[in-house]
Amino acid sequence: MTLWQGRLSGGTADVVMRYSTSLHYDRRLALDDLAGSRAHVRGLGRGGLLGDAEVTELLAALDQVEAELTSDAFAFAPDDEDIHTAVERRVTELAGDVGAKLHTGRSRNDQIATDLRLYAKRELRSVAREILALQEVLLTRAKEAGDAGLPGYTHLQRAQPVLLAHHLLAHGWALARDLDRLMATVKRLDVSPLGAGALAGSSLPLDPDGVAEELGFGSRFENSLDAVSDRDFVAEALFDLALLGVHLSRMGEELVVWSTEEFGFAVLDDAFATGSSMLPQKKNPDVAELARGKSGRLIGNLTGLLATLKGLPLAYNRDLQEDKEPLFDSVDQTHLALAALAGVMTTVTFNTDRMQEAAGDSALAAVDLAEWLVQQGMPFRQAHAVVGGLVHDSIERRVPLEELVEAHPALGSEAAALLEPGVAVTRRTTPGSAGPLAVSIQLERFVHRLESDRSRIDGEQ
Ligand code: ARG
Repeated sequence: MTLWQGRLSGGTADVVMRYSTSLHYDRRLALDDLAGSRAHVRGLGRGGLLGDAEVTELLAALDQVEAELTSDAFAFAPDDEDIHTAVERRVTELAGDVGAKLHTGRSRNDQIATDLRLYAKRELRSVAREILALQEVLLTRAKEAGDAGLPGYTHLQRAQPVLLAHHLLAHGWALARDLDRLMATVKRLDVSPLGAGALAGSSLPLDPDGVAEELGFGSRFENSLDAVSDRDFVAEALFDLALLGVHLSRMGEELVVWSTEEFGFAVLDDAFATGSSMLPQKKNPDVAELARGKSGRLIGNLTGLLATLKGLPLAYNRDLQEDKEPLFDSVDQTHLALAALAGVMTTVTFNTDRMQEAAGDSALAAVDLAEWLVQQGMPFRQAHAVVGGLVHDSIERRVPLEELVEAHPALGSEAAALLEPGVAVTRRTTPGSAGPLAVSIQLERFVHRLESDRSRIDGEQ
């Protein structure tokens, strides 16, 4: 039985049902749908559209439906097109005539928008919590790293030494922005669309404000057309998750590179690596590669939805049904990625000797020599040329840079001491820089950021 049997005669073609049904994925909104229905029923009661006994009866039926759904005893019917249809059908079977009043003043258009906002609010907040967990891992690893250094890279060429802690926290701050974006999205989407009806509101005494409050939304919609057609929150969520995915992809790429024989900076734990079906010696960084690969899919989910939305006239259009699968997919993939990467980062062994050795390459202190000359009064561009010339000579003539610096009239032994392994990084003292003092301050600030983000997530229930 369809919900529109009065208007259209005969049955719906089988292919139309198969093409349009969304039950196989929107059934995961069942509990949100029930929450929306409960609030709606109470609102109808407050408006005098349902008597007290009817409210009680409908709420009992909704409880029964919930029990059936959560125990997997719910019997879906072949023509349950979506979760809303399935729930209403079952409520009507259970409550008889009063069941037919459930949909009073409501449309599936405001209903699905409500369900999806409830889902997004909960899931984005839980992603934010998982981001915090990964940040905690990075923090722990950064603290453990102490004064260990490695080369910082630009263009994937060794550039300057940095502390490993600094490097790990760089990812931590990117994740802090991800968390911030998700929470801002949650705040913006915290608006109830219920009461907008199909598109124009209702002639009946509904109570959208009370319903919004009961559902825990910050406010109700301002405009019914906007309420049922707005999927900005889905697009925003998909963007937030796509960018988070890009950050995880970059972390993944780094782990791939670091765990190569050539770099040798990281050894993955066996539980977080995979083997090869043919090559007995292989240990592969598949989690890191999947974090990299799956970011493509997250980006695809975002661009797919934007393409779906771009040509839609107000208000609801069935195209909007295409919002759910990408959102569910991006959320599911992100939960997995965050958990898997937290595991990888917790268990990876950093080969700090190897990193330190690479960071000790005297050429990485070239800019320290130039800056030393600047402090002697030489203009930077000239100092850059002097040191660049020495590096060039050192390579061409195969003479250690230290010797050339020592012998240079403008430099000498005080300057040469800057090339000692481990010295350059200690000279990075500006705020936010890669040296030990700045990093210890940064660590404290990061700890505070995590604390305030945790209370932000917990506060916005
Ligand atoms: N399954 C639909 C969706 O996800 C629910 C709303 C259906 N509304 C309608 N007018 N056909 O968008």
